[in-house]
Amino acid sequence: MKGKILIVDDDANMRESVNDNLEVEGYETAQASSAAEAVAQVKRTQFDVILMDYNLTDGTGIDAIQKIRALNSESQILMITAHANLDTALKAIQESVDDFLTKPVNFDHLKRAIAKSLEKMRLKQDLKSANDKNLRLSAMKSKFMSMASHDLSNSLMTLQVSFEMLAQSIKPDDEQVKKMRYISSGIGQISRLIEDLVDWASIEQGKFRLETNLFDAGSLVEETAVGPAARATVRGLTLKTELQPGLPTIAADKKRLSQVLNNLLENAIRHTPKGGTVTMSAEKAVDNGVECVRFAVRDTGDGIAPEEVGKLFQSFYQGESASGGGRLGLGLSISREIVDSHGGRIWVESAGLGQGAAFLFTVPVGKA
Ligand SMILES: Nc1ncnc2c1ncn2[C@@H]1O[C@H](COP(=O)(O)OP(=O)(O)O)[C@@H](O)[C@H]1O
Ligand SMILES: [Mg+2]
Repeated sequence: MKGKILIVDDDANMRESVNDNLEVEGYETAQASSAAEAVAQVKRTQFDVILMDYNLTDGTGIDAIQKIRALNSESQILMITAHANLDTALKAIQESVDDFLTKPVNFDHLKRAIAKSLEKMRLKQDLKSANDKNLRLSAMKSKFMSMASHDLSNSLMTLQVSFEMLAQSIKPDDEQVKKMRYISSGIGQISRLIEDLVDWASIEQGKFRLETNLFDAGSLVEETAVGPAARATVRGLTLKTELQPGLPTIAADKKRLSQVLNNLLENAIRHTPKGGTVTMSAEKAVDNGVECVRFAVRDTGDGIAPEEVGKLFQSFYQGESASGGGRLGLGLSISREIVDSHGGRIWVESAGLGQGAAFLFTVPVGKA
């Protein structure tokens, strides 16, 4: 079937001749001689195209169209008007009508207009069903990731605890100690990956929550520096902290902000060659008129090409130089979510490749 068409016109001759022409083309047709009859038909049947005469005995086609649109937004409506009415008709219903034709009707024009409308309607339907499918797939993906990462997280916890108990109960020789260190660092790496996945899944599902506490911005920096400072030393780098005196107490999620700083430090350490310096700092700032603390992690390392700057914060994005290493490219996107949920802002500054990079973020002081 080519399509269902309703012909609305108070002139019976006109209706019949349009009807005959369309039937020959293989369309299924129906007729209505008034606005009321048209509305009644639309209530019963889903038409693909409605041909609407402008002048009807019981009102204008415009009233009929408004009533039809209230019932159904999918049918294509083609308005047929006399030249004299064109302007008024156009103004009144431009939005709810799909095309205009003028009288006397040229059948070739009419057929082309109908074919075009049908094509438009089918494209719209395809697009809608593709969209629906995408939404469903995306919801399934988040749900699956969330379930899988929680299961993995539980199994890993069991593995970790069993391994620690085993380690305490045996007296390993040197070779065994070496192997146990591999196992332990492997477990550590996998748990960091899984933590990122769990965070990402909860962000995707809109379940990411902050726990606010009151703390001193300086202590956050000092405490977060401990682990990374040791790693920096091992890699032949210097990790410095710079704190402006008199930093305020802030009301924020300390664990989450520490996670952001850890992410930035981990990246900086990885992207800075031996002999370089990573500096973590905190200072007071005003951003968009709001009192904030501005944190920064600067390095003297690889730097970032201008064309990459806009992509770093996307989920799963990893730069060209990122060579496996069991990472996922989620660190910065999770960091951005954490900073955004605090009402702050995170961004990167770099003069280009080889010029080092600085990641900065603000956290509003809040009602501390
Ligand atoms: N300090 C930095 N210097 C140069 N490039 C960086 C730096 N920090 C991040 N990047 C780039 O941003 C990408 C995304 O970082 P991130 O989201 O933390 O993912 P991952 O660390 O898993 O690669 C990295 O792969 C890297 O290309
Ligand atoms: Mg990272």
